[in-house]
Amino acid sequence: MKYFPEDFEFGVATASYQIEGAGDADGRSPSVWDAFAAREGAVFQGHNGSVACDHYHRYKEDIALMKQLGIGTYRLSLAWPRILPGGTGEVNPKGIEFYRNLLTEIRNAGIEPAVTLYHWDHPQGLEDFGGWRDRRMALAYGEYAKVCFDAFGDLVSRWITINEPFCIAHLSYFMGQHAPGLKLGVQDLFNSVHHVNLAHGLAMEAFRKGGYQGEIGITLNMITPRPATGTPEDRRAADLYTDFNTRLFTDPLYRGTYPASLAASYPDAAFPVQPGDMDLISAKTDFIGVNFYNESAVKADPTTPEGYSYAPDGYEKTAMGWPVTPLGLLRQLRWLHKEYNPGPIYITENGAAYPDQVTEGRVHDQDRIEYLRRHFAVCVEAVEEGIPLKGYYLWSFMDNFEWSHGYSKRFGIVYVDYETQQRIPKDSFYYYREVVNGYEGF
Ligand code: FCB
Repeated sequence: MKYFPEDFEFGVATASYQIEGAGDADGRSPSVWDAFAAREGAVFQGHNGSVACDHYHRYKEDIALMKQLGIGTYRLSLAWPRILPGGTGEVNPKGIEFYRNLLTEIRNAGIEPAVTLYHWDHPQGLEDFGGWRDRRMALAYGEYAKVCFDAFGDLVSRWITINEPFCIAHLSYFMGQHAPGLKLGVQDLFNSVHHVNLAHGLAMEAFRKGGYQGEIGITLNMITPRPATGTPEDRRAADLYTDFNTRLFTDPLYRGTYPASLAASYPDAAFPVQPGDMDLISAKTDFIGVNFYNESAVKADPTTPEGYSYAPDGYEKTAMGWPVTPLGLLRQLRWLHKEYNPGPIYITENGAAYPDQVTEGRVHDQDRIEYLRRHFAVCVEAVEEGIPLKGYYLWSFMDNFEWSHGYSKRFGIVYVDYETQQRIPKDSFYYYREVVNGYEGF
């Protein structure tokens, strides 16, 4: 039996647009997700985040429940449209007040906040000039980051600049699945990638120059598929896949360059790098956040334009249709540590959606418990191997607005009845409490 080290940190994670609701309260401007959700067919059954879990009004109750769980840290995100409704320029005092109250409540519960500056909900106004496709977006983000450091720096000791650059660039501007829902070409993708990377670099610069307390890093969802078989063709396919989806974030961060293979594969597209950008982007972070849900297999496939495609597997699937692959987490952590040696690692999201039901006031989500148990075992293994994995944030504290799936997918360890806003801790809540308190071994 193996146990987590005593100083291992446990937490839960959420994001502003997914839980807050209060869409037009206190001077908040519409976000890109409000606009996207209003578009016919974009989100499951036309759901949107205007009410969500009404956390904006119920945060005290939610933090009290977190306290019962015994977690030491809580990862939340700030809504840019509450703080700078115009994207840049005038600061909204009501937005600052809300987050100061929230952060104070969290701290008073003995929980250390870990704050993500940007978890996808930027003011819709910033899309007018092209959003992340345009360099001005990175500059606007840099200004926003500085406003947040100044306003909340005394209450926060762990900052995350950006959540999942892959989703911001690839899903939003290339695959059209996330707001603003555009399916553009590789040049637009590369523009978005570079501006997201630059935004991170600008936040790093503002943080270091401002001399704020605490630590700062970025959260990535790295897609590091295994080759379907050991053939050189499949290995190369997995490698190219990783370059196009992951190394175009990790190489700039830890090497200050873009992967050379991309220039060869896409000779007509280039990253819009200006002098000084790569130095900003590759500034040393204090930690890296890893969001992990699943791993896929990729095979060589000459019938596709990219030359590769997903290979089928026989793993059980969650309600998202995602395979349950805990060993994929171990492989990814080893890969990250060996390839880049980025220093301390936190898992900033991990969890699963299942079709939960309330029976006699309880939610028996044994499948989620099993998913978590298997991923915890891998975390312990990684620590034993000497990978500097320091903490784990479970996604998610409570059921919430799951982006294009609306409220149809439940990731919480707390069930939310959206009709009444009642919170019901699921069996996995009590299981996680055992883990957090050190009673569970693996
Ligand atoms: C991640 C997102 C998070 C949540 C989970 C399921 O990609 O960061 O907001 O939707 O997936």
